[in-house]
Amino acid sequence: MNNNLILVTGAAGYVGSHCLVELLNNGYDVVVIDNCSNSIQLNGKNMPESLIRVQSITGRKLVNFYQEDINNVTKLEEIFTKHRFVAVMHFAALKAVGESCKIPLDYYHNNVSGTITLLEVMRKYGVKKFIFSSSATVYGHPDYLPIDENHRTGNGCTNPYGRTKYFIEEILKDLCASEKGWCVASLRYFNPVGAHESGEIGEDPQGIPNNLMPYISQVAVRRQPFLKVFGNDFKTADGTGVRDYIHIMDLAAGHSITLENILKKDWSGWNVYNFGAGTGYSVLDV
Ligand SMILES: NC(=O)c1ccc[n+]([C@@H]2O[C@H](COP(=O)([O-])OP(=O)(O)OC[C@H]3O[C@@H](n4cnc5c(N)ncnc54)[C@H](O)[C@@H]3O)[C@@H](O)[C@H]2O)c1
Repeated sequence: MNNNLILVTGAAGYVGSHCLVELLNNGYDVVVIDNCSNSIQLNGKNMPESLIRVQSITGRKLVNFYQEDINNVTKLEEIFTKHRFVAVMHFAALKAVGESCKIPLDYYHNNVSGTITLLEVMRKYGVKKFIFSSSATVYGHPDYLPIDENHRTGNGCTNPYGRTKYFIEEILKDLCASEKGWCVASLRYFNPVGAHESGEIGEDPQGIPNNLMPYISQVAVRRQPFLKVFGNDFKTADGTGVRDYIHIMDLAAGHSITLENILKKDWSGWNVYNFGAGTGYSVLDV
């Protein structure tokens, strides 16, 4: 058995591709599943461009890339039969807050049902170490600041996307409480921004960006004419909204350290970590 083989779902995306660089640089062997619903695949290539570039940045090859959906139980079982994973890192999800309000069932199916399917297959094949991409949106409206991991969750989550993350966390807690052997780390990201220093991979969303940083980048390269700032009367120094941004490579390093820890024998059950910088910047600061 390869004690270094990790399954990474959704690795062709923004966060997953940067984490993949860390994993490959740290000597892990990786199999990727991505349905390519939010990735760029150039004609004739056998994998999304982001993954081709990750391989070129790291000088390492993926063990395998499967263009599959995590809801496809038959395919998942084929993959788990073929490879013996020591852990799963789960990035695959739909993530647009606005869209989730328009097509909530798609979000619940993709994110919640997809995660349950993945966990069921993991359970069947005896793989019980799991790192989950959660979000600070699970905290809803803050009771106090800065928000720590003891803050309550699920109270005032404002959209279906955020609720998918909250529901999945509850499912993971129940699973860890019900059965020995599971070791789960839920990583609650604040606002990941930036790109790998090579500039070869980064955040390049399809259509009009939903987030501030990719929008600003598109204004900088003249893909968008200007940035419209929403809100100027928040109770902040300059009146615009303040957010906690975390550099994507710090986030990636955090995943690698988490993986190292969950692979240790003395880690078990449900574990949760905030991934933020602890400092806020306003829209005008950015
Ligand atoms: N980017 C952020 O600001 C942010 C913040 C908090 C949490 N997250 C979470 O981090 C994870 C990664 O986010 P991202 O920004 O890289 O998004 P992304 O859209 O760039 O990447 C997600 C990847 O998952 C794939 N995917 C989606 N549904 C799938 C399915 N059913 N089966 C297989 N592949 C599927 C997509 O094709 C895409 O490549 C998500 O779970 C997201 O909710 C992101």
